[in-house]
Amino acid sequence: MTSLKTFYDEHPINESEILEKVENEGIARADIKPEDLSRYDQDHYGALAATDALAATLCIGPNSHVLDLCSGMGGTSRYLAYRYGATVLGVDLTESRVAGARRLTELVGLQDKVSYRVGDAAHMDLDSDSVDRIVSQESFLHIEDREDLFAECYRVLKPGGGMGFTDVLATDRIGTAARARFAEGFAAPHLASVDAYEALMTGAGFTDVRSVDLSAEWLGILHDRLDMYRSLEAETVARFGRDRFETYIGMYAFFIAQIDAGAVGGARITGWKR
Ligand SMILES: C[S@@+](CC[C@H](N)C(=O)[O-])C[C@H]1O[C@@H](n2cnc3c(N)ncnc32)[C@H](O)[C@@H]1O
Repeated sequence: MTSLKTFYDEHPINESEILEKVENEGIARADIKPEDLSRYDQDHYGALAATDALAATLCIGPNSHVLDLCSGMGGTSRYLAYRYGATVLGVDLTESRVAGARRLTELVGLQDKVSYRVGDAAHMDLDSDSVDRIVSQESFLHIEDREDLFAECYRVLKPGGGMGFTDVLATDRIGTAARARFAEGFAAPHLASVDAYEALMTGAGFTDVRSVDLSAEWLGILHDRLDMYRSLEAETVARFGRDRFETYIGMYAFFIAQIDAGAVGGARITGWKR
């Protein structure tokens, strides 16, 4: 199985690629603004609109202390800071992603509003009742200890705080071979169903747990993503080799076919702490 570290250390959306894309627009490094990065630093489906939907559902604003769980290159953390005025802490397990997120954030001068630390979302080194909101996008598919994950999220949220996340889901149509392929190709051996997620959140204490099915919306987005990754062929092959590129492209095509077949999908799930 592809390890999480390899998957993200060799990911086509990375610091160099993001900066290269912005500079190819004719913007000098010293002049790069957060919104320039935002065109390329979103490692989830639906780009900024998906984050706007989470922000609206969770009423994120200038007074919000937000925990961006599994923050990757930090695109969502920076966006919540510069667009909504929130103070954001990003936590991610992959050291190279945290280091890159920090450098990009400093480059655009958001380091006073946004910080990052390396950490496991299921076992966080954060105080109880310390954040107003938790967001996470397309990341929980990697995490096995989901009871611990939601217990931790509930613990660190302040009373009255809210959590919203989007993720890749499995339906009861998924087969054993497809599960194995998600494990191998996406470092995601534990795809959950929407019912399982709702039960886990409720079990952890969350109330008013709701989900919105995003599967149809994601189909179009994924086709665009596949085209985008294909357009990065030269850069990805040069950086990580042809095998990695072919595996990645093949995995995305498989993912699209699985959504088409109703075996996997996506959803936005929210809940609140009493
Ligand atoms: C698809 S990326 C999403 C990045 C970011 N949320 C975004 O939308 O741009 C998934 C991220 O989850 C992180 N991750 C996976 N398992 C984790 C865990 N147990 N704790 C913290 N981060 C984790 C990975 O390192 C990766 O950066």
